[in-house]
Amino acid sequence: MKVMKQLVFVVVILVALSASCWGGDTTDEDALGKKAKPQPGFNYFLLALTWPNQFCLSKPCKPSVPKQSFTIHGLWPQYTPSKYPSQCQTNIVLSDDDLVNLKDNYELLEYWPDLKNGGDFNASKSFWKYEWNKHGTCSSNKFTPLQYFQKSIDLAKKYSDKIYNALINKGVIPNGTQYRNLDILNAVTEGIGFVPTTGVTDQGRALSEIRLCVKDDAVTLFDCDKLTFAAPPSPSPSPSTSESQYPSSRSTRWWVSSVLEAVHNI
Ligand SMILES: *[C@@H]1O[C@H](CO)[C@@H](O)[C@H](O)[C@H]1NC(C)=O
Ligand SMILES: *[C@@H]1O[C@H](CO)[C@@H](O)[C@H](O)[C@H]1NC(C)=O
Repeated sequence: MKVMKQLVFVVVILVALSASCWGGDTTDEDALGKKAKPQPGFNYFLLALTWPNQFCLSKPCKPSVPKQSFTIHGLWPQYTPSKYPSQCQTNIVLSDDDLVNLKDNYELLEYWPDLKNGGDFNASKSFWKYEWNKHGTCSSNKFTPLQYFQKSIDLAKKYSDKIYNALINKGVIPNGTQYRNLDILNAVTEGIGFVPTTGVTDQGRALSEIRLCVKDDAVTLFDCDKLTFAAPPSPSPSPSTSESQYPSSRSTRWWVSSVLEAVHNI
């Protein structure tokens, strides 16, 4: 029973990840086009921090060997771990002026780079606009696009290096050695003082992201194993279930976690 629950959770994470990929996710948009768009609203955020080396093993990146630190994939409004609103009904767009402001005053390219177009601001715009349209709009009942990006970057400034250092300090070095998921979780929990979600890995079992749970103020972390939120009563769009395109190549180049280790239930 316990094992089953964990397997289900891992699958849910993979589905969520495959539905939240870096731009150009047209199947998801097609599916959503047939449904009414949800109103903005959510219970908490997931801050998805990418380990760039793993991302860039399966996708062409510029530069091909990125900076050795966790970067923002997105800040995602969630109802529960497996239910989240997306593409919410709103006219609020992320403007080019906001992006220029974020680049010039908020280190957007440093903390939230489009790894595929690293450093090329113009080419990266579609990634940030994609993340705002798909996820950010569902928090537009609380935040403007500028605030949403500023708060995301503030979170990354506070926690990315802490996570990296916590792993290194605990001997979890990205050198191809396999590490237990539990050891990764314990190191991160000790380093930042909060429990992240179970490790998100690709099918090769290599760590690709660390995800943190953030209250709806987009500032305060809480333990991901203490989620008590219920799904909304009205039907909300669930993520697409086509997870089959997930990359299957086995990688042992970076942090590798076995996933088989019992962690905790959510
Ligand atoms: C980016 O786009 C702006 C406006 O579209 C243009 O003025 C600028 O030259 C572009 N920058 C680069 C580096 O291509
Ligand atoms: C990687 O680092 C770990 C932890 O320091 C160490 O035990 C292991 O021998 C290293 N592996 C390689 C291939 O260097």
